[in-house]
Order: sequence, then C-alpha cells, then structure tokens
Amino acid sequence: MRFPKALSPRLQKQLLKRFGVYEKVMPVETTPSRWVPDHIDKPDYIIGKTLNTRISPEIKDNEQIQGMRNSCNVAANVLRIIQPFILPGVTTDDIDELVHTLTLEAKAYPSPLHYKGFPKSVCTSVNNVAVHGIPDLRPLQNGDIVNVDITVFYNGYHGDCSKTFLIGDVDDRGLELVNVTEDCLNEAIKICGPGVPFCDIGLRIHRIAKRNRLSVLPAFVGHGIGKYFHGPPEIYHTLNRYPGLMKPGMTFTIEPVLSHGSENTVLLEDGWTVITEDGARAAQAEHTVLITEDGAEILTK
Ligand code: MF3
Ligand code: CO
Ligand code: CO
Repeated sequence: MRFPKALSPRLQKQLLKRFGVYEKVMPVETTPSRWVPDHIDKPDYIIGKTLNTRISPEIKDNEQIQGMRNSCNVAANVLRIIQPFILPGVTTDDIDELVHTLTLEAKAYPSPLHYKGFPKSVCTSVNNVAVHGIPDLRPLQNGDIVNVDITVFYNGYHGDCSKTFLIGDVDDRGLELVNVTEDCLNEAIKICGPGVPFCDIGLRIHRIAKRNRLSVLPAFVGHGIGKYFHGPPEIYHTLNRYPGLMKPGMTFTIEPVLSHGSENTVLLEDGWTVITEDGARAAQAEHTVLITEDGAEILTK
C-alpha cells in the first residue's frame, strides 16, 4: 500500500506490519449494464412490484425449501465454475461478464443487476473494498484478494453466496485474513440449529476474530432469503442482542466481513462501493443455510 507522504517512516512501517503488502484500489471506469433476454424470469423489484415486506422470519414448507435448494445450487455452481478464470490480468468486469453469461445459461437472473440501482450482475470487492464493489476495467494484479458475491434468482427464489479469491502470491497477512474469515463462516454455521439464538452467530464470529486480532465490520449483516433477496432475520456478525431463535425451515445467509484495521467504513459517491476507513484490506465469505430438524445445512455448497 502507498501512504500519505505526511506519515512518519516509523508509522508507515508499523502500518505495513499490521496491514501487510497490497495495492489500495479505488473504482475506475466500467462498461454499461448487461442485457437480460425477455424469457428469463425476473424478480419483483425488476418488474416494478415489491413483495409484501415480511416482519418475521419465514418458515418454509417442503416446496419452498426445494425452491431454495435449486436456486442455491445454481449460485454455488456459478461460483465454482468461474474460480479457474479469476487470474492476474482478468478485470472484475470480465468476471461480471462470466457470471452474467453463466447465470443466464442456467435460466436464472443475476439478482444484483438493477437491484436498488446496482448497475452490474455481481459484486466484486478488491483489497480495501469491503463490500458491494462494482465490477470495472481494473485488471486483477498479483497479490490482490477479491471477493466475488453471487446471487441468482432461479424459478422464483434467490440463492446467495460469496468467496474471497487469492490472485497469485498473496502476502501472509492477506492469507491469514482470508482463512480466518472462512473459518468464521464455517464455525458459525456449525452452531446453527433449531432453538439456537440468532445472536449466538455474532458471538461465535466475534470470538474467533478477536483471537486472531482481526476486526469484524459491524455494518454488514446476513439476512433471511427466499422469494425476496433480503428479509428477516438480520444476522449480526458481531456481539449483539438481536432477539429470536432459529427454527426448522428458516433460510438465511451468514456473511461476515473481517479486516486488519478499523471497524469503520466509507460509502463512495457511486452509492455502492464501501471501502475501509483506514485502507486496510477486508475479506468476506457467505453461504445461504437452511435450519433443519437437527442442525443446519449449507444450501450453497
Ligand atoms: N449479495 C449481497 C448480499 O450478500 C447483496 C448485494 S446487493 C447489490 O446480501 F445490489 F449490490 F447487489
Ligand atoms: Co451476497
Ligand atoms: Co447476502
């Protein structure tokens, strides 16, 4: 990373040790939004009607659960297929094209596209971008980390998952950040099951992050998901008192964002890109899970 000239060499060295070696990024130019043919079924927010907003977490019946399984499979498959293409020199807009094309091929709609005005088909968040990065023409570079967050709308249901990829040789601080973030997600899923308080997820993640001297960005929560992209419950990834217990038939996402530095973030003027306040890198991992009779099942595996 490059530092403001005013920083003393001593402070620069300290920050480097804490945050590691990487390039700080800012959004650059991009291409127009991609096109979706008429025969692809679109979510409510595209056709201009919004579903009744739910006030409590939905308990899904078998048919709805099957709908979730199918959409989550499509999302997970797209994330799997693009993996080998995420290489140095590839732009995040190339990733957008890939995700867009594969999603349409699966007869699904890329949920981010025109969701509350988001201009692209996937979120790509590089290095110090915490979440909701807009794919653009910057080529990925050796040493970058990039989160690719894929949501698809398939046969009436959304499925949502993300992973942070390593580009070439990533420094040890970066590797650690990405690994601990994945651990947080996996360990949080392990405690889920009927009768478990939603707030236990944040407690579990908080402890793992703290043990590794990483911060959890409190501004971003997981969410219930179904025919709607975002609905109750809210899943906090830090210490919290959010009320309620998990019940069989609930589906929600867990999607912690961790960083080496400050918990604070800044929303850029494009209205979407969120960067860390101090320029430290952030990593995220996300799954959609189903609460079953005896635990939780990862639907986006
Ligand atoms: N996929 C994101 C999530 O995990 C939401 C992205 S909203 C968008 O909830 F509009 F930026 F796509
Ligand atoms: Co997501
Ligand atoms: Co999500």
